Amino acid sequence: MSNISNNLIIDNGDGDEPMSNPSNNRHFNDVLNASLSRRSALKGGLGASITALFGGVGLVGCATTAGGAGGQLIGFEAVPIGSADTVVVPKGYKVQNFIPWGTPITGNMPAFDPLKNTGADQANQLGSHHDGMHFFPIEGKDPYSGSSTEGLLVLNHEYVEPRYMHASAVGQKLSRDAVPALVNGKRPADECRKEINGHGVSVVHIKKGGNGQWEVVNSKFNRRITGATPMVINGPVRGTDFVKTKHSPDGTRTRGTLNNCAHGVTPWNTYMMAEENWAGYFINKVSASGRTREQSRYGVNSNDSKPATSRYGWELADSGADEFARFDVSATGADATQDYRNEANGFGWMVEVDPFNPDSTPVKRTALGRFAHEGVVFQPGVEGKPVVCYSGDDATNEYIYKFVSKGVYRKAAGLANGALLDEGTLYVAKFNDDGSGVWLPLVFGQGPLTPFRFNSQADVLVNTRLAADTLGATRMDRPEWGAIDPKNGQVYFTLTNNSDRTTTDKANPREKSRWGHIIRWTEAGNDPAATRFNWNIFLLAGPEKDSQFAGKPLNKDQIFNSPDGLWFDNDGRLWIQSDISESSMNQGDYAQFGNNQMLCADPRTNELKRFLVGPLGQEITGVITTPDGKTMFVNVQHPGATTTADDFAAGKLTGTWPNMGRYGRSATIVITKEDGGVIGT
Ligand code: FEO
Ligand code: CA
Ligand code: CA
Repeated sequence: MSNISNNLIIDNGDGDEPMSNPSNNRHFNDVLNASLSRRSALKGGLGASITALFGGVGLVGCATTAGGAGGQLIGFEAVPIGSADTVVVPKGYKVQNFIPWGTPITGNMPAFDPLKNTGADQANQLGSHHDGMHFFPIEGKDPYSGSSTEGLLVLNHEYVEPRYMHASAVGQKLSRDAVPALVNGKRPADECRKEINGHGVSVVHIKKGGNGQWEVVNSKFNRRITGATPMVINGPVRGTDFVKTKHSPDGTRTRGTLNNCAHGVTPWNTYMMAEENWAGYFINKVSASGRTREQSRYGVNSNDSKPATSRYGWELADSGADEFARFDVSATGADATQDYRNEANGFGWMVEVDPFNPDSTPVKRTALGRFAHEGVVFQPGVEGKPVVCYSGDDATNEYIYKFVSKGVYRKAAGLANGALLDEGTLYVAKFNDDGSGVWLPLVFGQGPLTPFRFNSQADVLVNTRLAADTLGATRMDRPEWGAIDPKNGQVYFTLTNNSDRTTTDKANPREKSRWGHIIRWTEAGNDPAATRFNWNIFLLAGPEKDSQFAGKPLNKDQIFNSPDGLWFDNDGRLWIQSDISESSMNQGDYAQFGNNQMLCADPRTNELKRFLVGPLGQEITGVITTPDGKTMFVNVQHPGATTTADDFAAGKLTGTWPNMGRYGRSATIVITKEDGGVIGT
């Protein structure tokens, strides 16, 4: 133990949401500039004032229906803003803390002891930083029908905080993303393995006990999918030069999924994991300008990064094995089958898995595009019609996409419907200032996607962002989750914030948007496969003096900012979750919002109320109920992340929720109503 170097402090701002649109590094500045000046011309005169299109302002197909089930969906009393280290829910509701990081679920069921658990232990325990989540009733039939007392809870683990994971971290000055001090410039291999296994997805068989408490079932269904799990690559990118590596010389396989943020559920009841901020997990040891275009537009690290390592420095593992070396995507061998120059091209996809088959191999569905997928949301499956889904690219000024399958959905085909996600048309959204919108096809050979700029459909997909730049898509304020209103098929998307916006448009109406907003649209003719749509703004988040919903500012029971998680329950309640970054939380102008929270809206009556406030330092993300609506699962991610590096070293933590161990632990909460009623009433 000698030569302990400086700590590897990898600061991506707020860690999980790095800026991944380094415009001065782009290869396509010419295209971008042309596109920008076109758009500026369209927007002349808007200036800095908020000029937005709101619901009901003369938009065909987007008007809010008044009345209906008026007032019946939301019956709870709003909870106030709060900044305590606890979960607050309305009167008449109760909370069970459930499956925190490290809960043993498979194999030899290793008990949680973060300072002693090995990398292999972590592969048998729940991962960390819970995010998108779905409850699959145990019968395994359609989504949202079946048992409400037993099922598979499937949840993503977006990232890890190494400072909580290793004995070597105790007493060191470590901020949230930092790893313990390097030893001779290396990281202990098992620490890297543990962090890789802390990522991915958990499938947990759960059941409601006789006492009303939910418990984990020791079951053949329980499964950990990690950053190392074997996966296959399907769709147009499969077998192409883009994904040939030393591990898979034929370009058909890769290992692991990373930074899984939100999720999706297909009409045939499989789970989709989204790969969001994957780019920072890799480094190409060249100057920034020396990276390939499929690396630079996404922000893969380079020698110009500070520090010049990947996010957690896994390539520095002291074993040298290729399970770690693959995170160094420098070209070092004679060709792509001799090294890992293409490893990062195996990431940035939507990944499908059948939660009911623990032996199934997850499939990367490349036809859905490669970007910082926040999640994916599907229109309901309709017999004989194409499958349609939407996905946002969560980075500053990135885009919203839609995929329409070539083949059609057949309920009887079951899991074979997955092949529909391998062939179809990927579109990107352009929001016009008059409230209309158009889906622009990302098809090689069509429009400007010519052999001059791209070589194949695989090239278009691996470089989805560049292709979307080329088409002149609308640069959005960081698209996060999408949700589809079960009553009318309208699609809602959260746009969390955008401190970099300098030029507004009507769909993104605030310069340097600090508070975020929610946009929604209706497809032309109510046909999900349409290429045109009409949009409006559902709400502008923010404080009472700078917000708008249904023609009024938000009131004290409604104010929030940075909308992120979004989900419609079966009755048509819209659940909205907030993600104020931990660098702003409870400080300055952000103090008025307290801790991150979840609200409930009824878009038909324009009711909106705060339902839940979470503990210190966390974000509320991921929400699902049982089919009867009487049990709700919500994830609490990164509690206590506001603890600074100095305070961590001194053992002064800003939050320790759920008080099940030395530090805060990401966990699921189970919410029920004391009278046994439907959540929200
Ligand atoms: Fe992982 Fe965009 O939130
Ligand atoms: Ca998110
Ligand atoms: Ca977020």
